[in-house]
Amino acid sequence: MQTVFPAFDTAYWQARYAAPSRAGWDAGRTTPPLQAYFDQLDVQRQPRILIPGAGRAYEAEYLHHLGFRHVVVADLAPEPLAALAARVPGFPAQPLWQADFFALGQAETFDLIIEQTFFCALAPTLRPAYARQCAQLLRPGGKLVGLLFDTPFARATEPPFGGSRDEYTTYFLPYFRFIHFETAHNSLPARAGRELFICLQKR
Ligand SMILES: C[S@@+](CC[C@H](N)C(=O)[O-])C[C@H]1O[C@@H](n2cnc3c(N)ncnc32)[C@H](O)[C@@H]1O
Repeated sequence: MQTVFPAFDTAYWQARYAAPSRAGWDAGRTTPPLQAYFDQLDVQRQPRILIPGAGRAYEAEYLHHLGFRHVVVADLAPEPLAALAARVPGFPAQPLWQADFFALGQAETFDLIIEQTFFCALAPTLRPAYARQCAQLLRPGGKLVGLLFDTPFARATEPPFGGSRDEYTTYFLPYFRFIHFETAHNSLPARAGRELFICLQKR
């Protein structure tokens, strides 16, 4: 029988942000694998970048400081969006979207979607829909880049939810060409050996 998960809705995430001990995912910085990826991007191209489930969005801050000007940050919860605005006063308000990733329309498509502990925050039953929605929000040839935990987690009833490379492959294969899908070599120490660096290109 399939597990039925409760709604991990705005109130759920706001409550987790309100209790710092329950926000253990927050690295307080751009993680090294994404920092290295951002450092080699060509800022002159000004790609349109979406960071869904961005939380406090250290990646958006880093990209902003590198000169990227088309960075959209989407999150269900208002607290982390306000935290980004307070931390980075120069970050424009318009691309801070308090929104459900799954409800985003395709009026605007992106060159790049960044994944950092958003996938693991979703009920596992939503994983096929996550892969599909990423593909729908990317232009052809666009990329989904980031990190996925390649490990099980003890708690099976609330985020983070773990998984494995084989499982994830089934979700992404219908839509993406796999450029990178391997154990990250430059993870934060606490995540070392337990996460995949992914770079998937929309077919
Ligand atoms: C585990 S946190 C990760 C935050 C951030 N990426 C980080 O690494 O610090 C998951 C985030 O996803 C957001 N979230 C959960 N479900 C969402 C959805 N359906 N649409 C948009 N954001 C969502 C939560 O509010 C939370 O900020």
